[in-house]
Amino acid sequence: MADAVTDLLDPGERLDAEALRALQLQRLHSSLRHAYENVPFYRESFDRAGLRPEDCRSLADLDRFPFTTKADLRENYPYGMLAVPRERVRRIHASSGTTGRPTVVGYTDGDLDLWADVVARSLRAAGARPGDTVHVAYGYGLFTGGLGAHYGAERLGCTVVPASGGMTARQVQLIQDLQPGVIMVTPSYMLTLLDEFERQGVDPRSTSLRVGVFGAEPWTEGMRREIEERFAIDAVDVYGLSEVIGPGVAQECVETKDGLHVWEDHFFPEIVDPVTGEVLPDGSEGELVLTSLTKEAMPVIRYRTRDLTRLLPGTARVFRRMEKVTGRSDDLVILRGVNLFPTQVEEIVLRTPGVAPHFQLRLTREGRLDALTVRAEARTDAGPGVREAAARAIAQGIKDGIGVSAGVEIVDPESLERSVGKIRRIVDERPR
Ligand code: DLL
Repeated sequence: MADAVTDLLDPGERLDAEALRALQLQRLHSSLRHAYENVPFYRESFDRAGLRPEDCRSLADLDRFPFTTKADLRENYPYGMLAVPRERVRRIHASSGTTGRPTVVGYTDGDLDLWADVVARSLRAAGARPGDTVHVAYGYGLFTGGLGAHYGAERLGCTVVPASGGMTARQVQLIQDLQPGVIMVTPSYMLTLLDEFERQGVDPRSTSLRVGVFGAEPWTEGMRREIEERFAIDAVDVYGLSEVIGPGVAQECVETKDGLHVWEDHFFPEIVDPVTGEVLPDGSEGELVLTSLTKEAMPVIRYRTRDLTRLLPGTARVFRRMEKVTGRSDDLVILRGVNLFPTQVEEIVLRTPGVAPHFQLRLTREGRLDALTVRAEARTDAGPGVREAAARAIAQGIKDGIGVSAGVEIVDPESLERSVGKIRRIVDERPR
C-alpha cells in the first residue's frame, strides 16, 4: 500500500530532507541573483540593505534580506516587477484585492509549466488520479483560481469541466450529468451549491463526488465537518496567492488532513512576527512570508502574505506543513482591545444546533465604541425556541472563547447573501 502511494510521487516529493535543503539553497541563490540582476526594485532594496545575492550563504541567511509587500507591487504597477522582457510573458493574472490599485502578475511559458505541475501535485495529494473528471467552479479570468486549477487538472491527466463560478442551477445539473469525482471550488460557494442541490430535491450525498479541493478563503475544521457530512466527500485545503503563483503553493494530503504541505522545493516559507518582522521558529504562529525559488517572470523575495499560520514538520510528505490559515491580518477585528478573526466565529456558529453554516460579522459604532453583531441563519427546521437558544449559545461561545461581548441575530433561512467565489464575512458599517 505504501508503495502504491510512493509510486505516484514526482521526483521533488521523493527527496530526503537533506537533499531538499541543498536544492532549496541552490535555487534560492539563483532566484536572488535573478531578482537582483533583472528587477530594479530588488537591486535598489538589496543595495540599500548593503547586501548582494551571494551574501545568502545558508537558508537562515535569507532573514537578512528585505521584505517585499503588496505596496511595493502596487508602486511598480503594471510591469515594474518583471524580471524578463514583456514579450516573454505569456499570461497576466491579478490579485483579488478589492481596494486600491490592482496588482498584476506575469508568467513565462516556464512559469505556466511549473504552475500546472504544482497544481497537478496538489490534486494528486488531494486524492485525484489521472482519468478522474474534475469540476472546476473557481472563477475563470484574472483570478488565478479557475485557470490555475484547470491546467493542473489537465496536467494530471484528468477530464476538466471548466464551470467557473455562478449559474448555480446549471452547475448542479452538470455535476449530475458528467459525474465528476473531484470538485475544486471555494468552501463558501460549495455551500451555495448545497442549497441548490436541496432546492432541486437532489440528495447531495448521492453524487459521484468523492473529494473537494477547497481554498482561496479561510475555512475551519467545523466547515470541513459540515461539507464532508452533507456531501459525503473528503474535503481538503489548497492554499496559494497570485503574487506567488496562484493555487498550488501548499496542499493538504487526503490521507492525513493535518494541514497543508508547502511545496517547499519551489516556494520557501518563513514565519515572522507581523509587527517586528523578526523570523520566528517553526511551531510559532505568525505571518507567512514566501520566497519563490524557481519563478522566472516575477520572482518574489520574502513576500509578506499577511496570512497568519504556523509551520509544522512534514508528515505525509517531506515538506513542512502550514496549519490552516486563521485569517489575514487585514481581516482582524479589534473590538475593545480584543483580537478576533471571522474563523473563530465560524467555529462557534458551526457547532451551534439549529444554525446553518451562513453567517456575517457586522461592525457598527455605538458612541465611541465599536460593536459587533453576528448574523447567523437559522436552519429551515429551527423553531423560535431553537433560534433563541442558538443566539444565546453563540453569544456565550464568543464571550467564553474569544473574550468579548457580541450581539447575535438569528435571521431567516436564505436571507444572507450567498457567495459565488470568495466570501466577504465582514460588513463594516462604522463611519469612516
Ligand atoms: O485566492 C489563489 C487560490 C485560488 C488559492 C484557488 C486556492 C484556491 P488571491 O486571489 O491572490 O489568490 O488571494 C490570495 O487568499 O493571501 C489568502 O488570504 C487567501 N487564501 C487563499 N487560499 C487560502 C486557504 C487565490 N486555503 C489570498 N485558506 C491569500 C485561507 C486562503 N486563505
